Amino acid sequence: MIETPRLILRDWREEDLEPFAALNADPEVMRHFPSTLSRAESDALAARYQSHIDQHGFGRWAIERREDGAFLGHSGPMTMSPPIPLSPGAEMGWRLARAAWGRGYATEASKAAMDFCFEHIGLEQIVAFTSTTNLPSQAVMARLGMTRRADLDFDHPNVPEGQILRRHLVWSQDAR
Ligand SMILES: CC(C)(COP(=O)(O)OP(=O)(O)OC[C@H]1O[C@@H](n2cnc3c(N)ncnc32)[C@H](O)[C@@H]1OP(=O)(O)O)[C@@H](O)C(=O)NCCC(=O)NCCS
Repeated sequence: MIETPRLILRDWREEDLEPFAALNADPEVMRHFPSTLSRAESDALAARYQSHIDQHGFGRWAIERREDGAFLGHSGPMTMSPPIPLSPGAEMGWRLARAAWGRGYATEASKAAMDFCFEHIGLEQIVAFTSTTNLPSQAVMARLGMTRRADLDFDHPNVPEGQILRRHLVWSQDAR
């Protein structure tokens, strides 16, 4: 468990699944992804995230607001595997419910997650990438102080050629 002034990053719980499915079904939250997720797909994703945490000691933790215990979404690094061009390595990810946007929660959670992984897991570098269209996510990378790595930009192998979501821009952060 990781604590920040306003948030707790923790293992996933059964009661997270409903609000997680709601945010994954929100077209605005999923605007920069190929599609929204069904309840079954959302549950499977949460299970995959928890199993990564169990296996590696880090991953996309559930974010809980300390003030009222609300589930806000997730943040944390995950290992990358082929066909992602930057693999092997660890990639940050974050996704928050729309009601939790605009308050600095994604940056606060993600900074704490990255610091934990540098200090306690021994990761030497964490990358982050997103589509050219996802300006809010790019702003989080900038607020985290990550380094823009145009030399590592790539076309996402899981997005068909010609689609606007295919080109991905990369940032990286080395252990301090
Ligand atoms: C990406 C995403 C997490 C960014 O959320 P966000 O709310 O813009 O980012 P933060 O939580 O860091 O909040 C920053 C904003 O909160 C504001 N803010 C308000 N109170 C704040 C506080 N106490 N501390 C810091 N910032 C605060 C900042 O000024 C900033 O606002 P601005 O964008 O108008 O400048 C969100 O858009 C999202 O979940 N998107 C869908 C999923 C997604 O695309 N994930 C990324 C895939 S690569």
